Amino acid sequence: MTMKKNLVALMLSTALMGGYALSSEAQAQALFSDYVKTQHKFEHKHMDDVDVLVLLASESADGTIELPQMWDEQARSIIQQALKLEDFTGKQGQQVELLALPNFYAKRLWVVGIGDDLQRADAEKLGAGLASQLDEKTGSVVVHAKGLSDAQIAAAAHGMDLRNYRFDKYKSEPAERPDYTVHWHGNNGDAAAEAYQATQPLAHGVFVARDIINLPGSDGYPQAIAELAQTAVSNYDVKATVYTPEQVQELGMGSLYGVSAGSQHKSHLLVVEYQGGGDEAPIALVGKGNTFDTGGYNLKTSGSSIVRMQTDKAGAAATLGAVMALAGKDAAINVAAVLPLSHNLISGSATLPGDVLVAADGTRIEVVNTDAEGRLILADGIWYARDRLKARAIADIATLTGSKVGALGTDYAAVFSEHDELLAAMKTAGDETGELVWQLPLGPYDGIIDSWLADVQNVGSPGAQAGARFLQHFAKDTPWIHIDMAGNAYSTSAKGIHPAGGNGYGVRLLAEWVENYNAAAE
Ligand code: BES
Ligand code: MN
Ligand code: ZN
Repeated sequence: MTMKKNLVALMLSTALMGGYALSSEAQAQALFSDYVKTQHKFEHKHMDDVDVLVLLASESADGTIELPQMWDEQARSIIQQALKLEDFTGKQGQQVELLALPNFYAKRLWVVGIGDDLQRADAEKLGAGLASQLDEKTGSVVVHAKGLSDAQIAAAAHGMDLRNYRFDKYKSEPAERPDYTVHWHGNNGDAAAEAYQATQPLAHGVFVARDIINLPGSDGYPQAIAELAQTAVSNYDVKATVYTPEQVQELGMGSLYGVSAGSQHKSHLLVVEYQGGGDEAPIALVGKGNTFDTGGYNLKTSGSSIVRMQTDKAGAAATLGAVMALAGKDAAINVAAVLPLSHNLISGSATLPGDVLVAADGTRIEVVNTDAEGRLILADGIWYARDRLKARAIADIATLTGSKVGALGTDYAAVFSEHDELLAAMKTAGDETGELVWQLPLGPYDGIIDSWLADVQNVGSPGAQAGARFLQHFAKDTPWIHIDMAGNAYSTSAKGIHPAGGNGYGVRLLAEWVENYNAAAE
């Protein structure tokens, strides 16, 4: 209990009337450099004593791998023999390790295949794969990367950073963060350094998203998340507005308010606006920020269904991270993240199954199932984006339905839309970032959310489509796309660019989507 109190004190600021004061401790967490200790250097500098030397080798049809001429001849011949013995051809994912070579300047040599068509997501995975094999004992690393473009080198370094994130706030003795220096020897050090710098706001956005997802439900309640988010963006050129529970009610957002009615932690709305595009209408990203999902009175009764439901705020986390990424790179776009924040708990004041909630747009919603709460909070978030921000396009993203997990599993997210330009930009963004999406149909499911009692009800069948149709009702004529990312938010073990825990899925997808869509609309 004491630990919990201390943590809350550490991470939260004091709430004041009419605004929030941020503690300096909380503010110190806002920087990229607090997350990863590893350094990347891009200038070509000769080194005498290297712990790990990585040679990136392109795929060759006849199996000959070119080794740098300045390497010792005997060492080269041993390496060539070893590569032959291992059938190394430079295919992506191949790796051969050699230790203690004669007259060699590195203790270990890793020859790593990069194939012949390394995409951005592949380059990120390559860097992440290297990071997974380097440990805190490593001092210096040199990567011989003549076969990579500057953009690919930057992507690989970025992938390393993404993999090296740790969530260790809850460890009594956190393990040392890896803090080696990686020297990337490519073709143009300045260009690679510049491209790498440009990835840092994106990585920072992913890190903050992961922090948010990983916070347990008793510490990461709506107000706590709103404050953490405000702190995270304090160095960014954005406007962050928090609506308190009273203001949520004043704005008429009864649907958002109703989801936390049973919790001592009432619903908040956080809006983060970045204005890089002059006076044009913004693109809005609306993310489900249900900070814990017990199901409400439709209680999640099995241990396996309720466990990890603190990750039910991953959609909100993704929208915040994406706006940070775009603001951090000074994108010439207006974009806003809208985060409805709730805590779906039970008590004598909780919403009951069968209750009718009145959303901000006036829609009366029969809550047939209190566990279909995500769409309830998104309804008011989408209304805010449409009615208050006058958004020219809306993407919502949510850990919305188990039905989606049944249909697509946890590698793909489901997307729903009737707007081809939004869909096309999303599919491209998915391929480019490796955060894959697959389209499911919105129709023909007429009457799927009709209610005999009120205007609409919050469940229907098939489940993922009913969620999408419900949200569409609130987007009205604004071009809109829905992403159901249930199951995507969390990695049980580290893999690729994802460490274990909240993985930040959606940050990169949304940031890329906003840029793609904006470019196509021009
Ligand atoms: N947060 C859950 C969806 C979810 C399930 C996310 C598994 C991640 C993993 C959502 O609020 C929910 O409970 N959905 C219900 C809706 C149903 C009651 C209509 C579901 O899918 O079972
Ligand atoms: Mn639920
Ligand atoms: Zn939920």
